[in-house]
Amino acid sequence: TVGNKDSVAETAPHFASITVLGGGQMGAGIAQTAATFNYTVNLVDMSDDALSRGQGYIIKSLKRVAKMRFKGDEPQQSRFVDDVLSRIKLSTDTESAAAGADLIIEAIIEQIETKRAVFGVLDKVAPAEAILASNTSSLPIGAIGEAVGDKRKGQLAGLHFFNPVPQMKLVEIVRTERTTDETIDRLRAFAKSIDKAPVLCRDTPGFIVNRLLVPYLAEAIRMLERGDATAEDIDTAMKCGAGYPMGPFQLLDYVGLDTVKFILDGWYKEGEGLAGSDLVRPSEKLDELVRNGRLGVKSGAGFYDY
Ligand code: NAI
Repeated sequence: TVGNKDSVAETAPHFASITVLGGGQMGAGIAQTAATFNYTVNLVDMSDDALSRGQGYIIKSLKRVAKMRFKGDEPQQSRFVDDVLSRIKLSTDTESAAAGADLIIEAIIEQIETKRAVFGVLDKVAPAEAILASNTSSLPIGAIGEAVGDKRKGQLAGLHFFNPVPQMKLVEIVRTERTTDETIDRLRAFAKSIDKAPVLCRDTPGFIVNRLLVPYLAEAIRMLERGDATAEDIDTAMKCGAGYPMGPFQLLDYVGLDTVKFILDGWYKEGEGLAGSDLVRPSEKLDELVRNGRLGVKSGAGFYDY
């Protein structure tokens, strides 16, 4: 059965073989998590370099988990790491990795044209019963799946994980107008089997979390621009007064200012129900930070220095 001794998995394996496309931060995290709960995973990226980078993230994260789970027992720690790694096969061949999978999770670069082309290929090579899911944060699932044939439209959905995937409990399952109840049920069961908390949302910009979070972050930046309060005080206020684990500026820096700008700009331009709205009006301050390469924690500086 799926699940190790710490899991809350309730049922038998929901998918015999999972393929994850994109071995970046998210794809690596998804592959690691599924493999930890005994799924067999094919992790696909475009080059061996990208794959070994992805594998590097996985090993680092697994070692940390192993240290906590098997305190002081080094042989057991390395057995755990090797065991999980043995279920993750690395590949640069999308077509053959997709041909043997019954769940395919796409976590490649956030570009609509690239994703669309990839889903067109997946639809052709994946087994008829396979579910095609995208981990996109900001693109409509329906638009990504435009090239997916009519027969499989019911098996197309969003499966949106949060960063870092091994730690974050939530998975948003996103249904288009065509996604079937059976597909939703299978994805929900899968999410539970890897110890996640699934929620269901319509195919709308930002789904649940980002639809609420991004306007909040944008308003925090506007508050700073207006000189209402300092970044430090706004962060302290939200942590100590609203019980948030991080303040908005810490979170902005963690998520990456380029990512937040990309989402805001896209929604302001053409987000369903959001285009032209003050809720997502681009910010001069944010644009300037991104222009100067201050992208947050990953670049060493954002609203704060690291
Ligand atoms: P990333 O840039 O770390 O990784 C993307 C990977 O995809 C790279 O290794 C790249 O080489 C690979 N790739 C690009 N085109 C490919 C193709 N055609 N076939 C196979 N691999 C390909 O990006 P990250 O952060 O992992 O994001 C991936 C997706 O996950 C995006 O759609 C993003 O919106 C979504 N996402 C990101 C979150 C985050 O916090 N970073 C959170 C939730 C979702």
